[in-house]
Amino acid sequence: MNTKRFLCAALGAICSLAFMQAQVRTEQTFEKGWKFTREDNADFAKPGFNDAKWQNVTVPHDWAIYGPFSINNDKQEMAITQDGQTEAMEHAGRTGGLPFVGTGWYRLNFDAPSFEKGKKATLIFDGAMSHARVYINGQEAGYWPYGYNSFYVDATPYLKPGEKNELAVRLENERESSRWYPGAGLYRNVHLVVTEDVHIPTWGTVITTPVVEDGFARVNVKTDLVMPEGKNVGNYRIVTEILNPEGKRISSDDRPGDKLDGNFFNQNFVVYRPSLWSPENPALYTAVSKVYDGETLKDEYTTRFGIRTLEIIPDKGFFLNGKLTKFKGVCNHHDLGPLGGAVNDAAIRRQIRILKDMGCNAIRTSHNMPAPELVEACDEMGMMLMPESFDEWKSAKMANGYHKIFDEWVEKDLVNLIRHYRNNPSVVMWCIGNEVPDQWNGNNGPKLSRMLQDICHREDPTRPVTQGMDAPDAVVNNNMAATMDIAGFNYRPHKYPENYKKLPQQIVLGSETASTVSSRGVYKFPVTRQAMKKYDDHQSSSYDVEHCGWSNLPEDDWIWHDDKPWAIGEFVWTGFDYLGEPTPYYTDWPSHSSLFGIIDLAGLPKDRYYLYRSHWNKDEETLHILPHWTWPGREGEVTPIFVYTNYPSAEVFINGKSQGKRTKDLSVTPENSADSASTANFKRQQRYRLMWMDTKYEPGTVKVVAYNDKGEAVAEKEIHTAGKPDHIELVADRNEIKADGKDLSFVTVRVVDKDGNLCPDAQHLIKYSVKGAGTYRAGANGDPTSIELFHLPQMKVFNGMMTAIVQSTDKPGEITLTATGKGLKSGKLVLMSK
Ligand code: GAL
Repeated sequence: MNTKRFLCAALGAICSLAFMQAQVRTEQTFEKGWKFTREDNADFAKPGFNDAKWQNVTVPHDWAIYGPFSINNDKQEMAITQDGQTEAMEHAGRTGGLPFVGTGWYRLNFDAPSFEKGKKATLIFDGAMSHARVYINGQEAGYWPYGYNSFYVDATPYLKPGEKNELAVRLENERESSRWYPGAGLYRNVHLVVTEDVHIPTWGTVITTPVVEDGFARVNVKTDLVMPEGKNVGNYRIVTEILNPEGKRISSDDRPGDKLDGNFFNQNFVVYRPSLWSPENPALYTAVSKVYDGETLKDEYTTRFGIRTLEIIPDKGFFLNGKLTKFKGVCNHHDLGPLGGAVNDAAIRRQIRILKDMGCNAIRTSHNMPAPELVEACDEMGMMLMPESFDEWKSAKMANGYHKIFDEWVEKDLVNLIRHYRNNPSVVMWCIGNEVPDQWNGNNGPKLSRMLQDICHREDPTRPVTQGMDAPDAVVNNNMAATMDIAGFNYRPHKYPENYKKLPQQIVLGSETASTVSSRGVYKFPVTRQAMKKYDDHQSSSYDVEHCGWSNLPEDDWIWHDDKPWAIGEFVWTGFDYLGEPTPYYTDWPSHSSLFGIIDLAGLPKDRYYLYRSHWNKDEETLHILPHWTWPGREGEVTPIFVYTNYPSAEVFINGKSQGKRTKDLSVTPENSADSASTANFKRQQRYRLMWMDTKYEPGTVKVVAYNDKGEAVAEKEIHTAGKPDHIELVADRNEIKADGKDLSFVTVRVVDKDGNLCPDAQHLIKYSVKGAGTYRAGANGDPTSIELFHLPQMKVFNGMMTAIVQSTDKPGEITLTATGKGLKSGKLVLMSK
């Protein structure tokens, strides 16, 4: 045993990998020590530039999320024709009212590892918003305009091995370039990878599972190799080991490269009794590949993958591992609410946990490339993914949108997306666009669709391709829809049957659905179905009866996907509220965030969450009552009660008096509920929610008793009229976090009465202090009209609630969060950072 091996054996397996990799491949992620300015000067790229006065920041960093909010930030004077606007009008808050427009510079001094001539250094950006110009020691090393994509630049010619180096990045965001808040800056991670002259390039492996049968799977691993001129893979040898989900080696293959393969190794494996990846069983295998030149190790590369099958069967639907699977999906924008675009693993995993609890099985990354952290979390936690690429192709939606760079960049952008994520089992289809105006543009739409889909197939022949189309008649007539592997329609589910009949695929995906609007804890009376309804308070009703001119209520989608085998499921607009696009409050400042979310900007479920949960999560009980029952002044007035439950029937009691029993009406079909009277009278809703439209308010207790299909009382729940606000309740999503300076605990803050009932009208200003091994990171209350700054340790609760976020430092220890508010007993919570 040589010394190296001995050391590693003593320190354990993790060390062994890191140590071996340190020999042939090093990776640094540049998080700390960055300098930042919003000024702009070509000298900033120069070596030795004195940036001492610039702001100290850590990356991922979103420069605009710190505000201040203003109606003048990216004010857009235009007509949104897709929303039916015919004349230009002033839009407020369409991009969140945050200062993302303009330039920003980042500079970093870093130590490069020492390496001999011939080795390669690659700088990888997971995403940089936007028009990134990268300078290494004063020389421009690369440019990438699209802010959502990952890209890499060859740093070798500019880097000084073993010395201090200077990295400078200039970013610029144009006005009128986005329809939502895009974030700004180095909002995703930056990595430096140093490899030997012979190495596996970035995203250089392709793992497929060409055969998955009962009892075994064939796994094919293709590994690209970059090597000196005049060499081919025949000069090298590859050893690949396959590890099962428990990390145990189950197969290995040691073979010389075949010069006929040019620049890649081709290896085949058999995995017996594979554990198939699915949302319920997110089993991950690992391929560890080592490349040798003779006996010398040249590179070591790890690829995670899954074994699973995907199939689209005309008329029958989407099958995952042979099992009929409907997409119970949500669309999400990339921002993480109060954290803005700055990517954070804990925040992403919290989102996925909340969605999974709702029964959601898929995310569409609308309308652009996801962060690697999201894809990895979906792989690990079991969430199917539909990564999307563009909101615009050749024809403009925004004056400074993607159309300006489409011709030059579209292929490069698509290639990077697919190469980056083609081994991730959570990715089940690619989406090449969203409601592109090329739908109407002569032959452009079908031709471009075919071109982009062909690129996807070339880069990844294993996954179907879709796009979200909102012009059903146009795209059926011009064959744009027929071109796609999967025709994805945004909204207008009543058109599905007609499209289904005309389309060769014989399946229809609801690529974007619902766009129901609501504000957490806000209830409007009388309870009537409304489109584009506006109120003076800039909120929408949480009775879940309001939507946009082009959209509908959740049940108007469900009924199709439940009853028609060819309707393969949906992606609801949206899972979480996002910054920007406060439709229907286009011009009404302050309005800085959407009302579409099933979950608000603070990550707090709205009532609608329980409606989806009652339908999607078949494994757990849902029994939810709305509205709250604290309505001073409404005594004797009609105050409808809705119950969202997965039980077929329920009975409501107000202060012990039965208000009658309601049962879901399963006789409702898409066909017998299509007329306008049925729509207005909530006929489809009666199949899925239980509604008492005539109940009158009196203070006290609302109790619901749920019955199973045998008529047995099986569950009950009560809500109570709240008394005076008494104290602040703090509940963390995770009480123990990692002492890595990045981990977050999301604390739900509630103003409650002495018995712990939520005070649904409370709007107290709460002030926070954090002591010990953590800091206050940000907060959000889910109020789309609030323009309080997220990062300040104080905020008003919105309808009694908000979320406060605590971040660890890199020292372990206790973290104490204290919350105080006028007239309230304060709250205190102790977290552990390890
Ligand atoms: C769609 C669009 C989304 C969002 C949504 C709001 O047309 O794809 O990005 O704007 O409408 O309903």
